Amino acid sequence: MSDKLIIFDTTLRDGEQSPGASMTRDEKLRIARQLERMRVDVIEAGFAASSNGDFDAVHAIALAVRESTVCSLARANDRDITRAAQALEGAARARIHTFIATSELHMEKKLRMTRAQVLEQATQSVRFARNLCADVEFSPEDGYRSDPEFLCQVLEAVIREGATTINIPDTVGYAIPELYGEFIRDLRQRIPNSDKAIWSVHCHNDLGMAVANSLAGVMIGGARQVECTINGLGERAGNCSLEEVVMAVRTRRDYFGLDLGIDATQIVPASRMVSQTTGFVVQPNKAVVGANAFAHASGIHQDGVLKARDTYEIMRAEDVGWSANKIVLGKLSGRNAFKQRLQQLGAEMESEAEVNAAFARFKDLADRKSEIYDEDILALISDESVTPEQEHYRLLSLSQQSETGERPHARVAFAAGGQEHHTESDGNGPVDASLKAIESQLATGAELMLYSVNAITSGSTESQGEVTVRLQLGGRIVNGVGADPDIVVASAKAYLAALNKLHSKAERVAAQG
Ligand code: KIV
Ligand code: ZN
Repeated sequence: MSDKLIIFDTTLRDGEQSPGASMTRDEKLRIARQLERMRVDVIEAGFAASSNGDFDAVHAIALAVRESTVCSLARANDRDITRAAQALEGAARARIHTFIATSELHMEKKLRMTRAQVLEQATQSVRFARNLCADVEFSPEDGYRSDPEFLCQVLEAVIREGATTINIPDTVGYAIPELYGEFIRDLRQRIPNSDKAIWSVHCHNDLGMAVANSLAGVMIGGARQVECTINGLGERAGNCSLEEVVMAVRTRRDYFGLDLGIDATQIVPASRMVSQTTGFVVQPNKAVVGANAFAHASGIHQDGVLKARDTYEIMRAEDVGWSANKIVLGKLSGRNAFKQRLQQLGAEMESEAEVNAAFARFKDLADRKSEIYDEDILALISDESVTPEQEHYRLLSLSQQSETGERPHARVAFAAGGQEHHTESDGNGPVDASLKAIESQLATGAELMLYSVNAITSGSTESQGEVTVRLQLGGRIVNGVGADPDIVVASAKAYLAALNKLHSKAERVAAQG
């Protein structure tokens, strides 16, 4: 059995399914480039048949990424598989990932299909996909809750049809590490042609065991591919977290004995990029990528670490890409230095016009903030990646008054579809007053589900505030992110960014609907 563990990243597909985490084509492209830089083996770029937007994103990633395999999800039907193959045209390495549910519950209640029909559709779909692509992955959705007898029948048949990877999803996060590992081991032992495919794990985190289950699938079950997402992003409690799996396998190589192709120093930049793009903030005590993951607060620990690092540290912060906040640019930095830093951050822009626009924003920020960090630049280009069509609403100016004992009041000017609006309101605080002012003018009726504010660079009140606003309207949930040294302005930007997403009518088919 191979000693290489394949890392299959599904941040752009399963991660993006998390309500509010949807990304634009350009945002996905930027993250895909970062995943390639991290040397992820397989990037699941999206679900091409779900919407035209997703098709375009998968296609753009297929053309841009040369080192990693680019994969598209497809339901087990000819139309989805054809769309996936079309979107992957031009890829250096392409994979079609097709799936159909195999648990009694899903077959009866969701698909309304018999076992024989599911078996036939799975077999026929893998045959069809193999005619379009040499690399085909098959997933029995809700596989872990499926009858092993039936699963063996389906998996043996799809391997016969040429499936090169067999993935066993724990779709609802129900598994227990030992049982999940044994489940996969038993399938591999019972299926006569199991050695013709690479086995893969795909775990959801509903019981907080996605990483443990995935690693048990590897060690007990013999899987050699782990499906995971940056920051564990994903629906409900999320997916298995890439950074935790990678660092567990790397740090405990004595136990796992497996090789990884990953450049771990790209983990923290990837984590920041995903968090800034989606507005899903990383909890401070999150393993590997949380702000406190390497911070030693207790005196005893600090003393120990100063004397000998390994007294309390099992990994080095710099090995996963943490660097002390570095002042990278300032007011006097020129366009070339700015452009070079963008390249070093993996944030190349497609046109000189985009670089110019981002540079103008940078100069504007540098006028108000003397020290500019990498995180500031990443936030700036997140703003910049919004196209004019996506920016229906744009903040023009904001002023607010707040004083102890007085009710705060805000005046906001913003553009909506090119038309200027001036509005004002009071509120419980300046943020409340500003958002109320915008809402009183637009009357969108959107419900505010989450408001959070974080310092982009830690440890200083000079940091920019990064605000996430989550809105719900008519069953759609979106996140908007805004950054500014003034958190009231950042809040108004975040609110308008969320409204822009609601304004874009892009609808998609749910993968597991
Ligand atoms: O969780 C799941 O079952 C999935 C499949 C579509 C692979 O994401
Ligand atoms: Zn999933």
